Amino acid sequence: MANKTSQPTTSPRERAFLMGVEIYGQEGLLPLADSLQELALLAETAGLEVVGELTQQLNRPHAKTFIGSGKVNELKAFVEETLAQVVVFDDELSPRHQRELEVLLGKDVRLLDRTSLILDIFAQHAKTSDGMLQVELAQYEYYLPRLTRAWTHLARQAGGGGGRSGAVGGVGLRGPGETQLEVDRRSISKRISHIKKELERVRAHRLRHRDRRKKSLIPTVALVGYTNAGKSTVLNQLAKADVYVADQLFATLDPTTRRVELPGGYKSLFTDTVGFIQKLPTTLIAAFRATLEEIAEADLLLHVVDISHPNALNHFEAVEETLVDIDAGHIPVITALNKIDLLNDPEKAQLAVEHYPRAIAISALENTGLKELKALLQKSLYETYTPILVRLPYQEGNLISIFHEAGKIERIEHERGGVMIQGRLPGRLIAQFDGWEILSEDINSKDEVA
Ligand code: GTP
Repeated sequence: MANKTSQPTTSPRERAFLMGVEIYGQEGLLPLADSLQELALLAETAGLEVVGELTQQLNRPHAKTFIGSGKVNELKAFVEETLAQVVVFDDELSPRHQRELEVLLGKDVRLLDRTSLILDIFAQHAKTSDGMLQVELAQYEYYLPRLTRAWTHLARQAGGGGGRSGAVGGVGLRGPGETQLEVDRRSISKRISHIKKELERVRAHRLRHRDRRKKSLIPTVALVGYTNAGKSTVLNQLAKADVYVADQLFATLDPTTRRVELPGGYKSLFTDTVGFIQKLPTTLIAAFRATLEEIAEADLLLHVVDISHPNALNHFEAVEETLVDIDAGHIPVITALNKIDLLNDPEKAQLAVEHYPRAIAISALENTGLKELKALLQKSLYETYTPILVRLPYQEGNLISIFHEAGKIERIEHERGGVMIQGRLPGRLIAQFDGWEILSEDINSKDEVA
């Protein structure tokens, strides 16, 4: 029976009003309306309730307030009318814009921008100690020059030793009583250098792990894609692994690696990585550089695109741009056009396949096209292998087992004192076989093996 006097267990969501700006000549990857729609999704993922939006087109940002003074008044009026408690700008505000706008909007309205929203979502989703430290660092570095009344609780957290990694989670969105607290930049700076040292330690540990994985010689495929494209779902299907899947932005933050068997006995390691988004804050790209390095070291990339999304092509381009930014632009890519079950016209999928490079249409949810995807992955990985013919004496047992483990053996002949192997090896391993390679004409002179 319902208890009429019971209190709601969750606090009501804060009411947020969105502000989008388009600067002539600097139009973003998405049209203004679509970018605002994405901002609304980010706001909801961060736990806010969107109550309205306003836009402005400008020749250049206003030096003091980013938007023009008339627009500030209009914004204020809307905020009062909709009882909004938070204003979210779609662009990153400079510390000066932040300060000036806060004064004009008044003390009852909290001002956020796209970056602080993304930072907040990242803080909520980071799970490994590495991920949590990276987000915490990005948050402190972002907020330090912006310390005003809205962020004063940070100083207290940092000053208190910061204890929990990722503890800045919820910054600017919740956090009781922050306005009564003293700002202490010094304690934040101290916390920043502490986190940096801690990160060094975690990274050294991770590098050792990565080395071990390299030594296991198995080729790696990195999944990349715009946030919510379906990367984790694809990995779950390919590896039958239980990776966290959620219909929200940035559900995957920390890289997850799973083993996937490809046709023809090919082993491979697949890594799910953080989702990309347009206007990804530069502080975050820097903070996640180490994680993103996993992508740059892959043998092949699997770019998952939500083809049912009206901005699929823009999303694709945003990911491509980020890949170039992180020095991964040279790695071969396969494009998985996902969620075809949501297309009302099946012909659309076929048309799209022709528009994207090395593309294949799939539905990870309904397990459509996954077999074909595996075959294409296998073929593409194989193409990254170099054909080689070697004659190895038994003393080089290490090289013989590398060939067995990492390569694809097409022919093997045991000879006096060693073996002759014909097959393919991942390009990065070829150098180790220097000096043992033979030309195919020499195959019959078996006695040469020492
Ligand atoms: P991030 O963590 O934001 O990077 O997301 P992701 O790319 O890992 O996406 P995820 O696998 O978490 O999927 C996002 C949403 O899309 C979930 O609700 C999935 O169930 C849904 N989804 C994934 N693949 C398909 C598909 O083929 N069809 C449909 N209809 N939904 C899908």
